[in-house]
Amino acid sequence: MKTKEVLILPGDGIGPEVCHEAKKVLEHINDTKDLGITISESAVGGCAFEEFGNPLPEKTLKLAQRSDAILLGAVGGPSWDNLDYDLRPERALLGLRSELDLFANLRPAILSKYLSDSSSLKPEKVLDLDMLIVRELTGGIYFGEPRGRSDTNESAFNTMVYSKNEIERIGRVAFEAAQKRNKKLCSVDKANVLEVSVLWREVISDLADEYPDVHLSHMLVDNAAMQLVREPKQFDVIVTGNLFGDILSDIAAMLTGSIGMLPSASLNSKNQGLYEPVHGSAPDIAGKGLANPIAAILSVAMMLKYSFSLNEASSDIEIAIQEVLSEGYITHDLEGNNNKKLSTSEMGNKIIEKLI
Ligand code: IPM
Ligand code: MN
Repeated sequence: MKTKEVLILPGDGIGPEVCHEAKKVLEHINDTKDLGITISESAVGGCAFEEFGNPLPEKTLKLAQRSDAILLGAVGGPSWDNLDYDLRPERALLGLRSELDLFANLRPAILSKYLSDSSSLKPEKVLDLDMLIVRELTGGIYFGEPRGRSDTNESAFNTMVYSKNEIERIGRVAFEAAQKRNKKLCSVDKANVLEVSVLWREVISDLADEYPDVHLSHMLVDNAAMQLVREPKQFDVIVTGNLFGDILSDIAAMLTGSIGMLPSASLNSKNQGLYEPVHGSAPDIAGKGLANPIAAILSVAMMLKYSFSLNEASSDIEIAIQEVLSEGYITHDLEGNNNKKLSTSEMGNKIIEKLI
């Protein structure tokens, strides 16, 4: 049998609390369904810097390379904001993405029908919203060389660069995702200004010939940001580069009411994946039982589906979460009946109850 080694990297802020609940759910489903998953844990981010002087210690990187899937909580916090660039907790995340070649970042934005009042848009604009942002994650301006400061320190620079190969491989992931959904793909770029976006558009357009069943459109990123808040349901799958995807996925997340609800998957070509909530470390609420563990638990559901092809176990978790929400139970980040507000661990337990 193929190994199923899961590494949990709780990280900083609310990361440990939400990972604790996600781990409970994973252990429960692993036991009841005899899935054969083994779980280990290691340090990452600011807490790893405190302990080992490195946000991505060698031991953690080795364990990550060896594992089939990783669940990461969150990294970062104010205590590490003034560290040198290479020691910041965020470097751990970027290091894992590039060392494991996790180029395909899938960020679904799905509105639960029980939460349409939590959206910042009118309920009718977002009712049944179900879209997927496919973000290129190991290239673009995040990793382009050269980067740095001028000799006189009077200027600083990064480079936005994409090769045809990089565009093609993320394009394929997006076309294939669109084929499994509503066969509608919108590629987002800034081709009216950036040379790199002109190439992006050419490569994506050429790929379209191989996916004749998918309707491809192109949109400039500024317009896409506007359209996401004007008429979000026009989108099904969006494919875009690293920086634009970072920004658009935060916009899309808020349309669903709470960033505390959204999972993500970052995959390489071997389906090894890093799964993490889209939210950050939220240091202001850390340790108080106020964090919403649903994004982390949904990240486990994505892991079961994408890294282990355990589709039934994955949808069991999604269904359990919808059942809990349908009964009006929420966490402190969501609008609703105050009497039904659960703490982080109460929400985890409630979801497990529904899984039995
Ligand atoms: C994200 C985050 C990261 C990013 C940061 C923490 C490096 O914002 O995953 O969206 O910019 O990619
Ligand atoms: Mn982001």
